[in-house]
Amino acid sequence: MSIVDVSKRYLITGAAGFIGYHLSRRLLEAGASVIGFDNMNDYYDVSLKEERLRLLKDVSSKVGNGNFTFVKGNLQDKSVVDQVFGKYHPDIVVNLAAQAGVRYSIDHPESYIESNIIGFYNILEACRHSYDNGASGVEHLLFASSSSVYGGNTKVPFSTEDKVDEPVSLYAATKKSNELMAHSYSKLYGIPSTGLRFFTVYGPLGRPDMALFKFTNKILKGEPIQIYNNGDMKRDFTYVDDIVTGIMNMLPCPPADNGKGARYKVYNIGNNHPEPLMNMVSFLEEALGMEAQKEFLPMQAGDVYQTYADVSELERDFGFKPDTSLRDGINSFVRWYKEYYKLT
Ligand SMILES: NC(=O)c1ccc[n+]([C@@H]2O[C@H](COP(=O)([O-])OP(=O)(O)OC[C@H]3O[C@@H](n4cnc5c(N)ncnc54)[C@H](O)[C@@H]3O)[C@@H](O)[C@H]2O)c1
Repeated sequence: MSIVDVSKRYLITGAAGFIGYHLSRRLLEAGASVIGFDNMNDYYDVSLKEERLRLLKDVSSKVGNGNFTFVKGNLQDKSVVDQVFGKYHPDIVVNLAAQAGVRYSIDHPESYIESNIIGFYNILEACRHSYDNGASGVEHLLFASSSSVYGGNTKVPFSTEDKVDEPVSLYAATKKSNELMAHSYSKLYGIPSTGLRFFTVYGPLGRPDMALFKFTNKILKGEPIQIYNNGDMKRDFTYVDDIVTGIMNMLPCPPADNGKGARYKVYNIGNNHPEPLMNMVSFLEEALGMEAQKEFLPMQAGDVYQTYADVSELERDFGFKPDTSLRDGINSFVRWYKEYYKLT
């Protein structure tokens, strides 16, 4: 069980995003104060981001003691990031804002450099200067990395001890770069930092650009779904509530010195149970009560055959391991989807 320190100020970047919303919500429900930061970009349907913000404001007004402050701004705008740190003095920072998606990075590389590299650099600089003039500053920086850093590694499960120097997409390269940047800032300026390698996150209010959401849209419209590598892929699908529980456990526990002078650590947060893509399709068909028309296609550039998280360190350090089954998680997603789009 994680204990939320409600005396701390939490800055969550990407709060209008999928994971940022769920994390902010859990914090607000526990009575904490959350500063949400997001540029509300139109990479996918903005109305879903607006809905998440509406829900967060709603929770905040119902809970009473916790409160939600939203700042609309770009991570790559250094002056805005500095202003947020200067005004709110966050104790704990969770950087989830990023240009996500592997396939989009093929055609839009610049978004990844701006949000994931320059944006993250601005966060690191703001954390560094939070200690100026003897201020207590940021106690813990957590930041989203990704299972995509494992690239085409064939040894499974993927361990944080494995070599991850061969990314197969620019997205993955930016996430690995974030880990390196955070390590150097941790070593140089003492910022306690935890990197979070998330594995294919799904659930209610999820991302419309991801397979589960896209497949649901198409099956309901009677359109064919595109299945890459002829369905021969495995993903360690991880339910969003498990991701949030993992983060909640870590928030009050900045890493100890890694023995080399840096308070820095990376964890996998995944289900530790890779599922064939076709199982996901079957569970979705079952939940929708409809059969999908399937269009089988070759592997896409930047994609990997499988992901599979070794979560032994998560279990060892926090006594926690994601455990929501894919079937249960898909049922929850479909229930939300039908309610949100008024299909019931
Ligand atoms: N969902 C997954 O399966 C998954 C897997 C691995 C890693 N991740 C990482 O986790 C984090 C959260 O992912 P998500 O699924 O919630 O994605 P998301 O796209 O729903 O959320 C990201 C949010 O950040 C905002 N944002 C993007 N660029 C910004 C910028 N420059 N300035 C300010 N705001 C900006 C977006 O508007 C969005 O609301 C991301 O860093 C992503 O790369 C996600």
